[in-house]
Amino acid sequence: VPLESHSANVTQDVLNLLDSKEPLHSSDDFPTIPQPEIKAALDRLASRSMVEYETSDTEEVTLTAEAETIVADGSHEYKVWDAVKQAGKIPIKELPKIVGADSAKVGQGNAFKNKWIKKDGDSLVLVANEVQDTTRDVLAGIKDTKALSDTKLLNDLKKRKLVTLSKVISYTVKKGPKYAKEIPVEVTDLTADMIASGSWESANFKPYNFNALGASQGAGALHPLNKVRQEFRNIFFSQGFVEMPTGHFVDSGFWNFDALFVPQQHPARDMQDTFFISDPVKADKPRADPDIDAQLDAMEAGSRRLFASDEKRQVKPRNYEQYFKNIKEVHQDGAFDSIGYRYPWSEDETLRLVLRTHTTAVSTWVLHRLAEDPRPARYFSIDRVFRNETVDATHLAEFHQIEGVIADFGLTLGGLMKFLETFFSRMGIDNLRFKPAYNPYTEPSMEIFGWHGGLKKWVEIGNSGMFRPEMLEPMGLPKDMRVYGFGLGLERPTMIKYGVSNIRDLLGHKVDLHFISNNAAVRLEKN
Ligand code: PHE
Repeated sequence: VPLESHSANVTQDVLNLLDSKEPLHSSDDFPTIPQPEIKAALDRLASRSMVEYETSDTEEVTLTAEAETIVADGSHEYKVWDAVKQAGKIPIKELPKIVGADSAKVGQGNAFKNKWIKKDGDSLVLVANEVQDTTRDVLAGIKDTKALSDTKLLNDLKKRKLVTLSKVISYTVKKGPKYAKEIPVEVTDLTADMIASGSWESANFKPYNFNALGASQGAGALHPLNKVRQEFRNIFFSQGFVEMPTGHFVDSGFWNFDALFVPQQHPARDMQDTFFISDPVKADKPRADPDIDAQLDAMEAGSRRLFASDEKRQVKPRNYEQYFKNIKEVHQDGAFDSIGYRYPWSEDETLRLVLRTHTTAVSTWVLHRLAEDPRPARYFSIDRVFRNETVDATHLAEFHQIEGVIADFGLTLGGLMKFLETFFSRMGIDNLRFKPAYNPYTEPSMEIFGWHGGLKKWVEIGNSGMFRPEMLEPMGLPKDMRVYGFGLGLERPTMIKYGVSNIRDLLGHKVDLHFISNNAAVRLEKN
């Protein structure tokens, strides 16, 4: 409140003074009022055309404390000359005692240079009877005007630490076309009464301030990961993908590993890499789950089918028992033209519960469902996965995977590469390279590399491959159906987009909430 009434006063003061003096110079006429306050008052008046003003920024010269004493008592050389004049003759050794050490040191030399005094043996004697203390006069002038036009002299004074320079913003103010001695009463609302009475015609409406910022809204905000996730979802949806139900983080080893033809001795299944759940100790054997089925039904109903077919299709219901047996067989004894791994497959191991290590656990469930009615289909998911990793600047024990799977007849590896090129170009990555890799569930497998313009090197951006027959055929998918898939992390593209270099600034308990609420949306393809 005091600030507001103060600035209202400034507004009135400007109007009052303009009545008798024009133009005004804010720095001279209102020397004690801070410039921002003056500007606020002037803007208020200018928006009503009551004043017009120009801004100038000038250099102001101010005296240092030393210069102030010179203006009061005279320059060092003047003090030396004055002392010699009083005494007639001063032994050089005595001078500091009379005029002070500082004045003796600086003033002696200048007084010689000015030919005011001279040496006579070990003493100082007078040369000039009358002198003009120009240093003092110049400084006194500066004290009055806060300026000096002789730039050479000004630099000299600056070097001698007698003056300092500072920038000053000031305003030159004139009356505007609607100048009045007081701000007229302003109407902010047009009322029915004003219209009825016709008083609106002469009313003085308060002008709109279109530059005013809106009050900040204490609303919720999407996390950057969610914004980037939404961008990826849009890419998938635009290419006919259906979103998979990935809401459950805990799955059995069966869905996370065995069904993917990951052998039970695989190092990734080790305690070091996988988080196991101790309670409950054991999962149910794979079985129907109407809830998850209903979720995927709903997603599929809302998507366009790639396979144009409205006629009733023959559905072969899933047989979970058979599937379980098939998986055991393909690992332990070999089946479906595969010789298998040939080790004793443990049911206890497959029923251990884990925090899923990849979203491919869900893709597997979806593909088994697809075997009910094998048809071209595209599925994707973007959700959380867990790995027992050492946490550092770029790794967390939980992160998000983006995953896509495409099922069709007659798919080729070239088709996967072309698909990936199109997909990544939608996120602004135009050059891809593929490197042979290994996954237990895909053959061939390819790591995906993209050129990182900032780092000037190829960086790994994803993993992909054609799912193995050992994974697809136990599900009941036809032999001539091919499925390929790919996966990438959500965190890395998000960190690049938002310029975050430590993942702990993005996710976890150390995240600054302002970072979350103030960040703008992103466009993946815009760099
Ligand atoms: N599951 C793989 C990973 O975690 C990604 C992937 C998905 C690879 C599908 C091939 C096919 O890296």
